[in-house]
Order: sequence, then structure tokens, then C-alpha cells
Amino acid sequence: MPLIAPFGDRPDCQVPMPPTRLRVLHLEDSEPDHDLVMFYLARGGIEADVLRVEDEAGLSEALEQDWDLILSDYNLPGYSGLSALAKVRALGKLVPFILVSGEIGEDIAVQAMRNGANDYLLKSNLARLAPAALLAIEANRTRIAKQHTDLALSRSRQQIRELAQHLQTSIEQERAAIAREIHDDVGGALTAVKFDLAWIARHANSPDIAEHVQQAMEALTMAHEASQRIMHNLRPAILEQGLVAALQWMAERFAKRTGIATEFRTSQEQMVLSAGVPLVAYRFAQEALTNVSKHAHASRVSVDLAQAGGVLSLEVSDNGQGLNDDDLAKARSFGIRGLHERAETVGGWVDISSGANGTTLILSVPLSGPENGFLDAFAPELTIDAVGTEGDPDDPTAWGIQ
Ligand SMILES: Nc1ncnc2c1ncn2[C@@H]1O[C@H](COP(=O)(O)OP(=O)(O)O)[C@@H](O)[C@H]1O
Ligand SMILES: [Mg+2]
Repeated sequence: MPLIAPFGDRPDCQVPMPPTRLRVLHLEDSEPDHDLVMFYLARGGIEADVLRVEDEAGLSEALEQDWDLILSDYNLPGYSGLSALAKVRALGKLVPFILVSGEIGEDIAVQAMRNGANDYLLKSNLARLAPAALLAIEANRTRIAKQHTDLALSRSRQQIRELAQHLQTSIEQERAAIAREIHDDVGGALTAVKFDLAWIARHANSPDIAEHVQQAMEALTMAHEASQRIMHNLRPAILEQGLVAALQWMAERFAKRTGIATEFRTSQEQMVLSAGVPLVAYRFAQEALTNVSKHAHASRVSVDLAQAGGVLSLEVSDNGQGLNDDDLAKARSFGIRGLHERAETVGGWVDISSGANGTTLILSVPLSGPENGFLDAFAPELTIDAVGTEGDPDDPTAWGIQ
């Protein structure tokens, strides 16, 4: 029995090139049958280094090496080609496996193919051996290449997902920092100017000066309101009063601003949510409502906040024109895509359903653990934490713990 040297390591990450000289493992107890297989391989133009093994022990030892092709007899003393196939596949080896047998019924052939054999041949028809071997090797190569591509693609998707989530968190941190600077620097300066204008007003000795002071005061009031508005958009202070209050306020403001009838419903007045969830829910509702005003042409929208089966769900539903897959695939539209990433930062997900009767977006976040869930209505004082009383006040994910 000729033994051949190991072929060498093949890094998993590389797709093997079609070999010029095949390394073939032949599981066969009959020497004449082995010679026949060798003959047909050579006749088909295949140059091969062939190792013959006769039983399970020989197979096990041979499988420590890499092979380009395994040919196996079906009937072996105390062993079978199907068991050999199972062993090869159980080891995670994708090497092409062809069953060669004197008598192989259709049911056995079907079972072999189902179990991962690449082909089956009758010993009486070995003229097909060489083409079948080359075909199996090529098909295997393509399959391995596809697996590598799939793996690379899924890794890259995962990286993009992680990057997107990281960006969402970074954006909130940046927003928090800008809001704080506006509050401290711009707010402080405006207050100082206001005091000085008040002083000038008190000491003004001409109507002209008083009038200018009055105009400056008005401009100052507008600047103050603008800074409040900007700060709120950057960091929704209303969340400090809890998600329920924030959504209520958002719905009312949306109705007033757009004229679209907006209903907010909730099953509970108070709830306790883990850090990060209220802000994710708030941004979800904000984006969904913005979309309604921008795209839906709706006359009605409802916002429902509920808890069922340990899952927080926030549903925004409109009666507008609906959306389709092409809308969601728009190259420059990142609103809804961003919602998926945001939801994932707190272990949640977003479902979309849409039709001629409108669009519904649902955010679901599992509330695991006793600290996550709706609080008992008899202990409402436990539910509201002011921002900054816990953890890092600049960490936007901590806002709105309620
Ligand atoms: N409520 C809605 N009703 C109808 N169409 C919508 C709705 N929400 C989103 N769409 C469609 O889906 C697209 C993608 O939305 P989105 O990801 O939020 O990006 P953007 O709002 O920036 O376009 C929108 O451009 C719009 O065509
Ligand atoms: Mg949008």
C-alpha cells in the first residue's frame, strides 16, 4: 500500500486552486477493483497520487491529511461507504466524495447524495469516473469560494452594523456636548447681556436709547428662545420627566405643528426602563413622526406605547399612502435604517408594515430583569430620576431613566 507525504497546510481562508496532480484517497477492500479505478482515472487523463485504505481505521488515519478527492466503495467488510461519508463530513471536511459500488440501489444513491456525497458510480460504468471526479472537484471549489465570500460578506455586514451603532452613540454624545456648551456659554452670555440691557434701560435718559434697548431686548428674547429650541433638539430635556410625558408632549406638538390628528395612547403612566431605552424610543417616535409629515400625506397618526410579555413596544401608525421596498432602499435615506441600528444598541428591533391604508413602524425592546418593566402604580415616586443623578450626566444613553 503506497503511502504518500502530506500535502502541506492549507489555510482555511484560501480557496484551493484546481490541483494539477490530484491526491486521491480510495477506500476499497478489493485490490483488483482498486486497480480498475486507477486505470480509469489514468484513462480519463487524471494524474493522481492515490492512497488505498481498506477499513475504518485506515480511513481515520488517512483523514489526518488533506485530500483532493475521496472515492469509496459502498460495501466494505464491517463498514460501509455511507458510514465513511458520515465520518468525513462529521470532521467538517468538504473534500469531494464519490461513492463507487458494484451494486448501488437508487435509494442508497439518494441517501448518499443527501448526506453530502458528490456523486455515485457503478463499477460497471467507470468510464464516467474521471469526468465525475473533475466535476466534483470544480463544484467543490466553487462551493468553498462561495462560503468564503459569504463569510467575508457577513463579517463586513457585522462591521458596518457595529460602526453604525457606534456612530449613533457618538452622535448622541456629541449632541450632549454641544447642548451643554450652548447652555453654559451662549446661555451665560445672553443672561449677562440681559442684565446689562436692563441696567442701560434704567439709566437711559433719552427715548431713543430706551427704544434701542427695547429692540435689543426683543432680539435677545428671540436668541434665547432659539438657543432653547436648539438645545431641546440636541438633547430632549423633556425625557427627564419620563418617556410617557415626553411622547405625550411630542404628539401634542406634532399635531399642533402639522395639523394631523395625533393620538397618543399608553397602557401605563409610569414605567422603569434600563439606561438608553427612553432615548432610543424618543428618537424612534421623532423619526417616525417626521416621516409621516414628510412622506405619508396622512390625516391621522397614532402613537402607542405598551408592554406585553416582557417587551416594550412603541408603535407609530399612520393612514397615509404607504411605502414600499424601493422607498426603504433609497440610497440617501438613512432615517429608517438608522432606527434599526439604534434599536439594536438596546437589544431591540424595528418592524415595518405598510399598505394602501398606511404605514406602521413598531419598535420592540425586551425588558429583561426585574428592574426593567412597568413599575407598580403605587410607587410612582420611584419611577422618575432626574437626569444626571445617576451615572455620567454627559452620557446620552443614560438620559431619561425613569
Ligand atoms: N410614513 C411613511 N409613509 C410613506 N412613505 C414613507 C413613510 N416613512 C418613510 N417613507 C418612505 O421611505 C423612505 C425612507 O425613509 P427614511 O429612511 O426615513 O429616509 P428619509 O425620510 O430621509 O427619506 C422615504 O423617503 C419615503 O419615501
Ligand atoms: Mg426619514
